[in-house]
Amino acid sequence: MSKNLSDYRRNYNKMELLEEYLEKDPFVQFKTWFEEMEGSSSNSEVNAMNVSSIGLDGFPKSRIVLLKEFNTEGFIFYTNFGSDKAKAIVENPKVCLSFFWPEMERQVIIKGTAEKSSEDKAKEYFSSRPRGSQLGAWTSHQSSEIASREVLDKTLKELELEFQDKKIPKPEFWGGFLVKPISFEFWQGRSNRLHDRILYTEERRIWTFKRLAP
Ligand SMILES: Cc1cc2nc3c(=O)[nH]c(=O)nc-3n(C[C@H](O)[C@H](O)[C@H](O)COP(=O)(O)O)c2cc1C
Repeated sequence: MSKNLSDYRRNYNKMELLEEYLEKDPFVQFKTWFEEMEGSSSNSEVNAMNVSSIGLDGFPKSRIVLLKEFNTEGFIFYTNFGSDKAKAIVENPKVCLSFFWPEMERQVIIKGTAEKSSEDKAKEYFSSRPRGSQLGAWTSHQSSEIASREVLDKTLKELELEFQDKKIPKPEFWGGFLVKPISFEFWQGRSNRLHDRILYTEERRIWTFKRLAP
């Protein structure tokens, strides 16, 4: 290590998050921040988000997935339904999504409940994916043990032949989860570690927000 970890220090001072500029609806606030990130010069993966779930072993586990849609209902990502995360979510649908957008010194944390999203939407999205990704989905029984890398490469070759000149259908074991939020926290880095934190919660379909100490 070239640098002592305690010397890593960054002052956040690009922006502020003040009540007077907040949207009443956290979905709109999220959209605003998302679009600002998309519009920034950064080439990082703006739609990469952390999904945390409680595993079958009782421990939380987080992993990055790609947000593929958000609308007034919630946030959709796609995955293998045989994976660790899918099994965990089916057993305990309470999840947490988080985004870290360092270029904007921002973080968003969304708690919610996940459910399988529409099969039609999943088919539509699957058919829009590059052929290689479609074959990849068929090839990998995500999160299960495999003997070697060669196993994957061999399976891919076999599937390439099987589907040659054919449309590749969506596997039944692959699809989306829709996360319906119960809270949103928007975090804007500020100087002296006195960051802005705004928490939105919903009661009887009405969203309100409050400020949290940083
Ligand atoms: C940038 C990035 C994007 C990813 N996107 C997805 C995704 O959209 N869906 C998915 O299932 N896994 C995605 N992964 C892989 C997951 O992080 C994870 O390794 C995989 O889903 C297996 O997780 P699990 O065993 O906890 O179910 C992505 C990883 C990275 C780093």
